[in-house]
Amino acid sequence: MHVKTFLITGGAGFIGSAVVRELIHNTKHTVVNIDKLTYAGNLESLASIEGSDRYTFEQADICDAQAMQRLFEKYQPDVVMHLAAESHVDRSIDGPAEFIQTNVVGTAVLLEAARSYWNGLEGERRAAFRFHHISTDEVYGDLEGTDDLFTEQTPYAPSSPYSASKASSDHLVRAWQRTYGLPTLVTNCSNNYGPYHFPEKLIPLMILNALAGKPLPVYGDGQQIRDWLFVEDHARALIKVATEGSVGETYNIGGHNEKANLAVVETLCDLLQELVPQETSYRELITFVTDRPGHDVRYAIDASKIEHELGWVPQETFETGLRKTVQWYLVNETWWKRVQDGSYQGQRLGSL
Ligand SMILES: NC(=O)c1ccc[n+]([C@@H]2O[C@H](COP(=O)([O-])OP(=O)(O)OC[C@H]3O[C@@H](n4cnc5c(N)ncnc54)[C@H](O)[C@@H]3O)[C@@H](O)[C@H]2O)c1
Repeated sequence: MHVKTFLITGGAGFIGSAVVRELIHNTKHTVVNIDKLTYAGNLESLASIEGSDRYTFEQADICDAQAMQRLFEKYQPDVVMHLAAESHVDRSIDGPAEFIQTNVVGTAVLLEAARSYWNGLEGERRAAFRFHHISTDEVYGDLEGTDDLFTEQTPYAPSSPYSASKASSDHLVRAWQRTYGLPTLVTNCSNNYGPYHFPEKLIPLMILNALAGKPLPVYGDGQQIRDWLFVEDHARALIKVATEGSVGETYNIGGHNEKANLAVVETLCDLLQELVPQETSYRELITFVTDRPGHDVRYAIDASKIEHELGWVPQETFETGLRKTVQWYLVNETWWKRVQDGSYQGQRLGSL
């Protein structure tokens, strides 16, 4: 296998750190992780690989054009995997400006830095360069019918400031491919879950609240349907697309695990009851709260293209992945306690 240098943006985040761990643990490639370390960035998620001589961390903002240009020149990447983003829908409703800045402006800055660097490449290195943009199925809006699936041809209809900013960035990436010939790839994935997930997101929030005996807040009637994918399956899919995908193509990635939010929370309660038994069922902690404005009802992904063309299939079912996730939170209390009390942010000073 030809060893490549991967430039990963957002590699200290939930999915980015899974990609970095997968590349270092299971391939021979070299990784440069560029991350601003916002509240969502946590270098402690990379503790298992930080000693590798194939791994380098650079704290930088993707909106900083000079810094991006300098880093492209310094590391001469073969592949860019762009995951840096503001990613939490509720935060985008409270404060959309940061989402426009990082997700839209930041992507444009990164595309320009990549284009300028790629223009200076020659021969095989220029032909083999790839810019892989990582996006979400939320750009498609929501599905009405119970049998419909998002395909790569589904028109964009984003509902939240988050999904609108991701949709904008997807359009920019495709325009840079069409206009300048930059060799890009786009992936749109369903909801991820798994180890190292920031505890503001549904699954880790519910696990940690349940363990603390706190209420389990479910939006509306809890019947919103999401298609769940174990984060390590997503990381493997992303590396496959970045290394084997066809230039200019889009690949939808999903786990064929459509579940109503309430059913997810109930399953978590039952798993906890088995692993950490208590007298009253954890289900009694479930409370229904006012629904999120503009909340999409149903997402479901048709992942047949990546399965047929690249031979990727998820290794985990929802049941095995959820069990692994709960078990991970049970034995990694130090990681999540340091997120909850904010001490994980002390890492910033150390890395500057
Ligand atoms: N989480 C999901 O379920 C999901 C599903 C599909 C697609 N995605 C996409 O995958 C990507 C990663 O998602 P995630 O859940 O890991 O997000 P995350 O919020 O956990 O991580 C984002 C990372 O980006 C970094 N970052 C933010 N702004 C930055 C900036 N201006 N410059 C440099 N770094 C910056 C943060 O510090 C953090 O480490 C995002 O683009 C997201 O839209 C996420």
